[in-house]
Amino acid sequence: MAIQTNADEIRALFPELEHIEDPKLRDGVVDIWLDLAAETAWERFEDIPKNLKDEKHMTLIGHVQGVTSIAVAMADLVEKLHGVEVDRDLLIASCVLHDISKPLESEPNPGGPPTGSSLPPAKITEFGAKIQHGVYGAHKIWEKGLPKALELAHLVITHTRASNTRSKSYEAALLFYADWVDSDAGIVLGGGTPLASKWVEE
Ligand SMILES: [Fe+2]
Repeated sequence: MAIQTNADEIRALFPELEHIEDPKLRDGVVDIWLDLAAETAWERFEDIPKNLKDEKHMTLIGHVQGVTSIAVAMADLVEKLHGVEVDRDLLIASCVLHDISKPLESEPNPGGPPTGSSLPPAKITEFGAKIQHGVYGAHKIWEKGLPKALELAHLVITHTRASNTRSKSYEAALLFYADWVDSDAGIVLGGGTPLASKWVEE
């Protein structure tokens, strides 16, 4: 199975891509999404869940859109309020790609437990069980030869607590917080406990 789509549809899903200045980076991000559309077991982007637990009622696409919008809004504010410089190309590309492995981490589960939303039942794939979240995104970034590949792969890998590597860059901080803000919105909507309440000092 696969999702039938094209570059125009991917650009329409993630309008912030137009603010990436480097056309090679912009096109590369779109190309990676087209690859994942071809590789996934799902047939529609809107059916892919954000995850299989507290946010199984949220869509992956809605989450990626939310993270990207929230991160860019925060970048606008901190630049205006404090003069912090943010690498917009890196920030937008990393936000749009941060969960790019998720279309491979779940698959349709016809007859499975209902999700409590319009999303169809889903289950974890063998890929999702065996490959650490974030790793495939880094693989794709290098495979496509994206500009700033090392820093971009670093951002994608370090956004998740599954990684034992952390980033010290400000772009990583914006991605990390935006990811939590958007994730907690989905968790609260589902009646769950926000991730923020589970934060522990390392
Ligand atoms: Fe995420």
